[in-house]
Amino acid sequence: MSFLVKNLTLLFTIFFLFFNYSITTNAIYNVKNYGAKSNGKSDSSKAFVSAWVAACASTSPATIYVPKGSYLLKSAYFHGETCKSKAITLRIDGTILAPSNYNVIGNDENWIKFERVSGVSIYGGTLDGQGASLWACKTSGNNCPQGTMGLTFSNSSNIEISGLTSKNSQLFHILVDSCDNVKLQGVKVSAPGNSPNTDGIHVQYSSRVTIMNSRIGTGDDCISIGPGTSHLWIQNIACGPGHGISIGSLGWDVEEPGVQNVTVKTVTFTGTKNGLRVKTWARSSNGFVKNILFQHIVMSDVQNPIIIDQNYCPNNENCPHQGSGVKISDIKYQDIRGTSATEVAVKFDCSKKYPCSGISLEDVNLSYKEQPADASCVNAGGRASGFEKPNSCL
Ligand SMILES: *[C@@H]1O[C@H](CO)[C@@H](O)[C@H](O)[C@H]1NC(C)=O
Ligand SMILES: *[C@@H]1O[C@H](CO)[C@@H](O)[C@H](O)[C@H]1NC(C)=O
Ligand SMILES: *[C@@H]1O[C@H](CO)[C@@H](O)[C@H](O)[C@H]1NC(C)=O
Repeated sequence: MSFLVKNLTLLFTIFFLFFNYSITTNAIYNVKNYGAKSNGKSDSSKAFVSAWVAACASTSPATIYVPKGSYLLKSAYFHGETCKSKAITLRIDGTILAPSNYNVIGNDENWIKFERVSGVSIYGGTLDGQGASLWACKTSGNNCPQGTMGLTFSNSSNIEISGLTSKNSQLFHILVDSCDNVKLQGVKVSAPGNSPNTDGIHVQYSSRVTIMNSRIGTGDDCISIGPGTSHLWIQNIACGPGHGISIGSLGWDVEEPGVQNVTVKTVTFTGTKNGLRVKTWARSSNGFVKNILFQHIVMSDVQNPIIIDQNYCPNNENCPHQGSGVKISDIKYQDIRGTSATEVAVKFDCSKKYPCSGISLEDVNLSYKEQPADASCVNAGGRASGFEKPNSCL
């Protein structure tokens, strides 16, 4: 008898130790336990932030869980500077909605923002920015708020975003600003092709960002790359509708960090305005773009498949006609094929002050209406090799 009791006690002790252990090693913070409502109507911002504060104070890895259902968030800022937990996971099975009335958050800079966090992962979930009414306001030419960014990571490191859907943001869908080591994969971004300024993913002042296996269709750039971006890797992306993948606009400021070591590999562009674009303001700047590789790219009915535009100056405003100061060098285009929707499929319009150098075209096969397309070069130097269609102007 006492033998049995002893053994049972031991068993229970082991069980409790194990149970405790699994709780303390990955505590789960369900937003519903903090008052979040899944009816899509009650503002759950406070509940989400409370769950974050609890997870962040945990001394071990923590998971914030968002169950199925719709959650309205007016705004949620997640600060990480005092976090004890070095690994916080957000597992989202539900949909997070922004207020549909653009006056509520249209003048805020950010909707959902992570600032100074490290070791944060987001798995799954849908973010719905409900931007339609703001776009309609903008399109009608009325006086409208600028709109708010969808999901922002700022000043953060060691971030992973996997399987997230972001749709109909008022402004950019995902912003990576001043971050290091960020992985985005299996992300889906969608907004109508005519929705203004709804860039898919914008990266700036950041290093070691990876964007893979994602599908992006918006009314602006699928991916845009701002100043101070280095060691960026983009692979397996379907882009369209939208304005393509763009390095720029760069060179607005005189003092501006450059863009370097960017790889864009295995991307298809479908019906987009641009394919691979580098764009700089026609203004003085000490910025630069160097060591860029575009490889294994398929264009389908793209208006400007390959374009460098250093004379960017919409409405001829804010450019004192002195040429761009941004120095562009060592850009390689390798295995680029498909169809252009306009006659000029390759256009290098570089700065007269600082001509582009080290442009390399290798195995380019672009046609326009089943004819070879044209290429145009201004102030561009480099060389072409392998198959050349259109004939290179370098
Ligand atoms: C990043 O954090 C530093 C302080 O650590 C601050 O000075 C800077 O403004 C922050 N940058 C951004 C983009 O938030
Ligand atoms: C360029 O960036 C990639 C990551 O995108 C990195 O693996 C590689 O080491 C970098 N190359 C240089 C020369 O820094
Ligand atoms: C170039 O593209 C055309 C049309 O797609 C194709 O018929 C042709 O075989 C391609 N040439 C090479 C060398 O890949």
